[in-house]
Parts: sequence; structure tokens; C-alpha cells
Amino acid sequence: MPVRRNATTLTAQERTAFVAAVLELKRSGGYDMLVKIHLDRMTADSGGQRVGHQSPSFLPWHRRYLLDFERRLQAIDPTVAVPYWNWTIDRTPTAPLWNADFLGGDGRAGDRRVLTGPFAYSTGNWPLTIRVDSRPYLVRAMGLEAPTLPTAAQLATVLTRTPYDTTPWTDRSTLGFRTALEGFGTPNLHNLVHLWVGGHMLQSVAPNDPVFFLHHAFIDKCWSDWCIPQTGDRYLPTGNTTNVIDSTEPLPPWNDMTPADLIDHTLHYSYE
Ligand code: CU
Ligand code: CU
Repeated sequence: MPVRRNATTLTAQERTAFVAAVLELKRSGGYDMLVKIHLDRMTADSGGQRVGHQSPSFLPWHRRYLLDFERRLQAIDPTVAVPYWNWTIDRTPTAPLWNADFLGGDGRAGDRRVLTGPFAYSTGNWPLTIRVDSRPYLVRAMGLEAPTLPTAAQLATVLTRTPYDTTPWTDRSTLGFRTALEGFGTPNLHNLVHLWVGGHMLQSVAPNDPVFFLHHAFIDKCWSDWCIPQTGDRYLPTGNTTNVIDSTEPLPPWNDMTPADLIDHTLHYSYE
């Protein structure tokens, strides 16, 4: 069973193993399949039923999505798990996460192309094929759209929010836990991190930047941290809604797990 750890606690050897598995997944085409799943979900979410974003199933959908990623990595190297990025602690473009032996750094001035690390275009290992513009290279613009990352104090206030979510479910103004964690209203958490990294993290093809998975692993950990003290429903709605995913409704495109199947993440992996 995978153990997901803070990215900054990984040894050099563990960082290398993670990067190598991601590069092999990219080479085999599996990584781009995942980028396509996210792109398709965001396109669908802007039209009909909201599943992946701006709805209660934001958290279980991305949990299932990260499981897909992690299982594909483990098929390549069983020792690898998805690390998480605690952006309340590692808050600058010089944090170890962005070193050349891990995710590489910020984009350069001008076209914002990432020049360092294993995902730089010049390596030949990271050409972007699933994209929504003509740029084949990874782009980051840290701090440009949002000057600072969410703080520990802001996260702490969101972790006290109840209920999980509330009617009308897909509205941006309700202030349940899911809405706040996703980043509608104040404080803004998940969405603000996408804005801070900038570049591809602003797009529907955000998973082209591997930091997407480290960011969502931390969002996923926040959901599990919120769940522990809850005595009531850890997912809502439980049923009888036509426009959102109920707790016993399978999540597309996998259609093999429901939010209820995913609430206890310890069945699938653990956090350390
Ligand atoms: Cu998403
Ligand atoms: Cu996201």
C-alpha cells in the first residue's frame, strides 16, 4: 500500500525514483492519457453535470484521479507513491521542491518556459502533446497571478468548516468545507495555488505540470484531515439529487468507485 509523504522529506534516491517513474509514464503515453482525462472532465464540467470541479465530487473525483496516477506509477516502480506539497510551509520559488533534481524551477522571463529540471523542454523528455494552445513546452510563472500562497492560518480556518457541502451544491457562494477548500470565497486555497504556480497550472491541461499531482495530494490530505474529527456526513449529498454526484453514484470516467468507496483513503494508501 502506498505511503504518501511530504515531498521535502524524500531522500535524493526517492526523488530520483519518483521522477524516473513519471518520465517512464510520459514515455509510454500513460501520462498524456491522464492529462486528457482532466481536460475532458473540465470541458464536461463547463457544460452539463459538474463532476470534477465546482461541485461536491471535486474531492472524490481528484482522489480517484490521483489513484489512477499512483497505480500507473507503481506498475513502473512499486516503491513510488505520490508525494505531497505542503504549500503552507514551502512557499517560495526557491523551496527544495523546485530543485533541478525534482520538479525544476520557475519559467524564464518573457515566454515563461521552464528551463531547469527533468521536465524542461530541452531534455526531450517532456514535450506537451495534450494542450490547449500551440506551446509544446512547460510554462510556469510563479507569483505572477497570485503573489502569495495560502497560509497555515487560512487552512486551519477552512478545516473547521462544516458541513461537507450544501445545497445548491454547485454554487460558488455557499461556504461549506468543499467550497472553501476548492477555493471559492475567502480564503481561497486550492484555486489560489494553481494561480500562484501559473502557466500550465492555470489551464484545463494543468496536469501537464507534475506539481499538479503534488498539490492535489495535499488537497486530498486536507480532506482526510478534515474527515477525522467528523461525526456526521463526510460526503454530501447522500442521495436524491439529479445534477450532482451522490455518495453512492460512480465517478466517471472510471465508473468503478463512488464517493462512499473513496471516503476512507486508508483502504488505498496512507499519509505520513
Ligand atoms: Cu482538476
Ligand atoms: Cu486543481
